[in-house]
Amino acid sequence: TPELVPGDCNPDCAIAVDVLRATSTIATVLAAGGEAVQVFSDLEQLMHVSDKWSPEKRLRAGERGGGKVAGFDMGNSPLDCTPEKVEGRRLFISTTNGTRALQKIENAPTVMAAALINRAAVVKYVLEKQPETVWIVGSGWEGSFSLEDTVCAGAIAHSLWEKTSLPIEEIAGNDEVICATALFAQWQDKLLELMHQASHGKRLLRLDCHEDLKYCSQTDILNVVPIQKEPGVLVKL
Ligand code: MLT
Repeated sequence: TPELVPGDCNPDCAIAVDVLRATSTIATVLAAGGEAVQVFSDLEQLMHVSDKWSPEKRLRAGERGGGKVAGFDMGNSPLDCTPEKVEGRRLFISTTNGTRALQKIENAPTVMAAALINRAAVVKYVLEKQPETVWIVGSGWEGSFSLEDTVCAGAIAHSLWEKTSLPIEEIAGNDEVICATALFAQWQDKLLELMHQASHGKRLLRLDCHEDLKYCSQTDILNVVPIQKEPGVLVKL
């Protein structure tokens, strides 16, 4: 039986979640035929590493404050990640919170990126692998709580829990996962509405990203598991 959120031990499996929008973008790029996604917390380092790749083979994505960083090929909208644009290319990406969350957990034996759009695929892989301990790590916004990551953690936990016949409190490692599961149970049929209430959802709406919210609030539309191949580099399983 997996423990869904840890005590102070190292997890067997860590799942980063940034529904709006880094992990939604990562899942979309890999589903659209991107070769890999390499994440950076630092923009300068991203430039330095990606400079060694030819412009035909690389795409640079940079987001700060929800907007695109000047000089980059794209910001952090999953809707920009069409097969025409990403096929066969490596995405070098730095975002405010999501890529940092991935870097924090990069030493776990199995690291994945999940969003609502690829929740079922990630859950299926966890159930196949049967890790003893799973961390679900929400990115939040600059250290604070976020509704959209919590509801996605709840969606993952809910799905894992459905496959066991145990009460949620027996597989949950802390109170947060019980709370996240309850949030998902209450909002699962109105996830877009929830995104509209979330503080980062509101920030993105001010930046005219309504279509991003719509896209990211869908569940289980992509059959893709972004998994870490080496620290900071995710590929399609
Ligand atoms: C982040 O990493 O903070 C987000 O993905 C920001 C965004 O919506 O681009």
